[in-house]
Amino acid sequence: MKIVFGADHGGFELKETLKKHCLDSGYQIEDLGTHSTDSCDYPLIADKVAAALANGAADFGILVCGTGIGISIAANRHKGIRAALLYNDAVAALAREHNDANIAVFGARTQNHNDAIRFLDIFLKTPFSNGERHCRRIAELG
Ligand code: RB5
Repeated sequence: MKIVFGADHGGFELKETLKKHCLDSGYQIEDLGTHSTDSCDYPLIADKVAAALANGAADFGILVCGTGIGISIAANRHKGIRAALLYNDAVAALAREHNDANIAVFGARTQNHNDAIRFLDIFLKTPFSNGERHCRRIAELG
């Protein structure tokens, strides 16, 4: 499984933590930036990760900004992207089971690193339920 990473300056350090965790766990990864804590714009990072998923270069994306909100809004403007801000264990599972989310989003200024790692592990290990009502609702997203 290949995972692409993106973060703005506010999410840089948490991105680095999550990247290391994924590498240690045996996932193939690609980091699409940012590569420092210098200020940058989260919509441009979200666009890169969305494009990597759209062209099949990766199976899942991970995005991080200060709150996780701006980068979620930006990612979800792209067709076929279902970016979910993970904030507890149940949400991490439901984002996959019900929403077939393909990007896990984190807020570096609102979450600690250990929680984010746990939410990410749950997210990556939980399959989509493939239930009829969930498939219908995802199709309705267009
Ligand atoms: C950057 O300062 C901050 O606005 C950004 O990381 C994010 O929190 C936006 O939603």
